[in-house]
Amino acid sequence: MAPVNASPSAFAALQARLRAQPARWLVTGCAGFIGSHLIETLLKLDQTVVGLDNFATGHRRNLDEVRSSVAPAQWARFRFLESDIRDAQACQTACRDIDYVLHQAALGSVPRSLADPLATNGANIDGFLNMLVAARDAGVKRFVYAASSSTYGDHPGLPKVEETIGRPLSPYAVTKLVNELYAEVFGRCYGFSSIGLRYFNVFGPRQDPEGAYAAVIPRWVRAMLLGEPVAINGDGETSRDFCFVDNAVQANLLAATADDPDAANQVYNVAVDDRTSLNRLFEMLRGVLAESTPEVAGLQPAYRDFRPGDVRHSQADISKAARLLGYRPTHRIEAGIREAMPWYMARFGAMPAAERGSGAM
Ligand SMILES: NC(=O)c1ccc[n+]([C@@H]2O[C@H](COP(=O)([O-])OP(=O)(O)OC[C@H]3O[C@@H](n4cnc5c(N)ncnc54)[C@H](O)[C@@H]3O)[C@@H](O)[C@H]2O)c1
Repeated sequence: MAPVNASPSAFAALQARLRAQPARWLVTGCAGFIGSHLIETLLKLDQTVVGLDNFATGHRRNLDEVRSSVAPAQWARFRFLESDIRDAQACQTACRDIDYVLHQAALGSVPRSLADPLATNGANIDGFLNMLVAARDAGVKRFVYAASSSTYGDHPGLPKVEETIGRPLSPYAVTKLVNELYAEVFGRCYGFSSIGLRYFNVFGPRQDPEGAYAAVIPRWVRAMLLGEPVAINGDGETSRDFCFVDNAVQANLLAATADDPDAANQVYNVAVDDRTSLNRLFEMLRGVLAESTPEVAGLQPAYRDFRPGDVRHSQADISKAARLLGYRPTHRIEAGIREAMPWYMARFGAMPAAERGSGAM
C-alpha cells in the first residue's frame, strides 16, 4: 500500500511556482464535480482560468460555491463559457491563449452509457476529439484529460497497472479507451503533449447526490440522511479504490506542469492504492454520520442483483504517478469522507424529520 500523507513536496513546490508565475488554464466540465474543484484550487493559486460547461450534468450552484470560497480578485480572473464540446468552433474559442487544458467534460456513468450509448459517444468521443484538435491548433503546452479506471475492463489483475488492460465492459469504458488512443496518436502524429489520468471512484463535496446515475457515496449519504433505503448491488464484497477529490486535483496540476519528458504522453492511475468493499463503505459512512446523526446508527442495507457492466474489484497501483509526477495522495477514504460529510449535512441534514422519506432500511 502506498504511503499517504507522505511529504507533499512536489505539489507544495508546484503551488509556490504557480503563485510566482501564474498561467492560463482551461477547465472543461467546470460546473461539474471534479471540474469545480479544479477551478477552485487554480483560482486560489491566483491563476487565470477559463471554464467551459453546458450544464448537461453540472450545476450553476457549483460555480456559485466556488465564487463564495475565493477572494473577489481571484474570481475576477475566471471567465465562464456556456458551451458544448460537441461544437468544434466553441472548443477553438475556449483554447485561445491557453497554457494548460484540464479536460473533464464528459458524460460519466456506466449505466447511462448502457441506456444511451449515442449520447455518451457524442460527448466523450466527438467532444474529446474536438478538444484535442482545438488544443493542438492553439499550441497549448499540455492537455490533461480525465481517463478512467473502467479501461481495465475485464482484466482481473490487482492492483491495476497502467500497461495491462482488459476488454471494455460498457460503452462508457469504450469512450475512455478511445480517448487514450486518440491522445497517443496525436502525440505520435503531431508531437502533441498530453497526459491521461485514470481516475478511480473519485468522491467529495459537490459530487451530485441526485439522479439515476449518481455515484455511490453521495447517493448513499443522501439516502441515509433522508431515511430512504440504501441498496447494495450484489453481495457487497465488490470493492473499489475510492479517491478523495483533493488527490485528483493534485494529480491534474502535477500532470499539466511536469517537465520530465518521460512523464508526457502517458496515462496514470489516480487513486490511493487501497481497496474498500461496499459493505465496509456502508459501515464507514453510517459510522461517521452517526457521530452527528445518531438515528442512522441502526440502518441496514438492502441487497439486490449485481449491476451489468460493473467490474468486481478495483485497486490502483499508483507507483507510476508517484515516480514520474511526484503524486502523493493526501487523503485515504475515511479522511475524505470526514472532510466531505459537512457538505452533505448542509445539503440534506437540515431537512426536518417530517419531510424525510419513510423508506424502511
Ligand atoms: N467521478 C469519478 O469517479 C470519475 C471516475 C473516472 C472518470 N471520471 C471522469 O472525470 C470527468 C469529470 O467527472 P465528474 O465526476 O466531475 O462528473 P460531472 O458530471 O460532475 O462533471 C462533468 C461535467 O462535464 C459537463 N459536460 C458534459 N457533457 C458536456 C458537453 N458536451 N459540453 C460541455 N460540458 C459537458 C457536465 O455538465 C459536467 O459539469 C469525466 O470525464 C468523467 O468521465 C470521473
